[in-house]
Formats: sequence, structure tokens, C-alpha cells
Amino acid sequence: MKVTVVGAGAVGASCAEYIAIKDFAAEVVLLDIKEGYAEGKAMDLMQTASLNGFDTKITGSTNDYSKTANSDICVITSGIPRKPGMTREELIGINAGIVKTVASNLLEHSPNAILIVVSNPMDTMTYLVHKSTNVAKHKIIGMGGALDSARFKYRLAEALEAPISDVDGMVIGGHSDTGMVPLTSHATRNSINVSEYLSAERIQQVAEDTKIGGATLTKLLGTSAWYAPGAAVSALVQAIACDQKKMFPCSTFLEGEYGLNDICIGVPVILGKNGIEKIVDVPLSEAEKNKMQESAAGVAKTNGLLEL
Ligand code: LAC
Repeated sequence: MKVTVVGAGAVGASCAEYIAIKDFAAEVVLLDIKEGYAEGKAMDLMQTASLNGFDTKITGSTNDYSKTANSDICVITSGIPRKPGMTREELIGINAGIVKTVASNLLEHSPNAILIVVSNPMDTMTYLVHKSTNVAKHKIIGMGGALDSARFKYRLAEALEAPISDVDGMVIGGHSDTGMVPLTSHATRNSINVSEYLSAERIQQVAEDTKIGGATLTKLLGTSAWYAPGAAVSALVQAIACDQKKMFPCSTFLEGEYGLNDICIGVPVILGKNGIEKIVDVPLSEAEKNKMQESAAGVAKTNGLLEL
């Protein structure tokens, strides 16, 4: 299994690190346009191999896509991250051109690869990859919901004063401050609905804190987060590489599912060796259905800014 990660910035490098630590991939190629940067990150990570006990070989490349040839999975993290006060949507002008070029370069050398899109605004970048390549829709996966769900679980555990392994929950919808739809009606602690333990107001607060999860970190860090995004990508890569058939909310091209068409947005999917093997239809409350429609309208508006 060969995985390429384009963009050796904080998210790309953390993604490579988590993939390596889990030791399921033979090779990870990190690629960046900044001279020597990916090579440096790869060497630094390789020097953790004997300490962290992995055999995954990590190599770096300065924009030489021939090094990425025959990758099974390619992750696109390229582009600029947001600064405090910015929305993910504001990045579209710069990132659209970058993502389109990166996808085309990757496919030239790995025509059969499964693509995972991380660059923001993520749902629109996933849609762009769908529209600008001939890759089948089940092989184009936007990473947002896995991260947002991890942040939801963090906030649920905090509210419940419970360990994270006790809680479960999912966030669907667009990967944006206003577009996320935390599925509060399905959130549980040890299979018991959280409404048994938390007031409606506290659950609402958890949902709001989840939605601004990325923005909260951007304010604290001065740039966008990387550990949880990297871990979320690595979980998707592992589910595909190890054919786990795990369920994650991912951005995928919809053709009628959830009443939506011609859009990439976060919905629960099953990930396995073929990429998205199934879109899962989860029953939503009326409020969640309405929020999903509003979220899709927001993503469609951002998609309208693309020059396709
Ligand atoms: C975040 C970025 C990766 O939510 O969108 O941290």
C-alpha cells in the first residue's frame, strides 16, 4: 500500500506521522512545493521509526510527482490554511487553482488512486475534484465529518464528564462554521441517548461548540489545527487500506441521497478498499433535515464561486 500526501505543512505531516505510527502502509510519500521541505519532514519522521516502532517508509519530494507513481491513496492537503477571523470559504480563490493542479498531477502518475480532499473550503474542493477529473465518485472523498465528529465527541465527553470512549456521535453536513449538523438526536453514552443525561440547552451548547471547533483552535493557534485533522485523515486512509468497512461521515457527491443533488457534502458512508462503498441513509429529526438543507444551500453558494 502506497500513500501520497500532498502538502507537507502541519496537517500533511501530522497525517503522515499517524499513518506511519499505525504501521499498515508500506510507503508514504510526502510532497510539497517548498524546496527541501517535504524531504526534511520525511527524514525527521523516519528518525522516529525506531523509537515509535514502525516500518512504514516515508520519503519526501519537492514537487516531483514521478515519486508518487502508483499510489493507492492520495491525500490533498495543499493550499493556504485560514487565519484567525477567516472562514474556510474565504480560501477558495487561492486554493481552487492549487487543488485542481495537484489532482491532475497526481492522476497523471496514479490514475487508479483514491483521492482524499482536505484543503478548504473542503466540500467545494471535493466538488471541484469531482468536476475537473474523470475519477469515479466513490473514489473522491472529502475529509471533514470524521474530524467534526471527533470534535463533537470531545465536547460530548466534556459535557457528560465521561471518558471519550464512552460517547458516540456523528456530524454531517458541510465542513463550515455554519454548515455542520451535529446529530444530537443520535448521540449516545454507552448506547443511551445523551438526552437522558444532559439538558436540551447543554446539548445545544455542545452542538454550537462543535461547529466552531476549527475556528476556536484557529484563534488559539494563529493558524488552523493539525493534530485532529491529521488523525482524522489517517483514520480514513486506514479504513480504506485495511478494507475495514468502517462508517464515517465524509463529503461525497450526492445524486438524490438525503434529497440532495449535484453537491459534495458530509453524509455517513462505509469506507473500504474501493473507497466509498455505500452511502448510509440515517433517519434525521425534522430539525436536522432542515439544517441539512440549509447547509447544502451554503455549500452550493460556495460552489457557485468556482470557475468550472
Ligand atoms: C479544521 C480544518 C482542517 O477544521 O478545516 O481544523
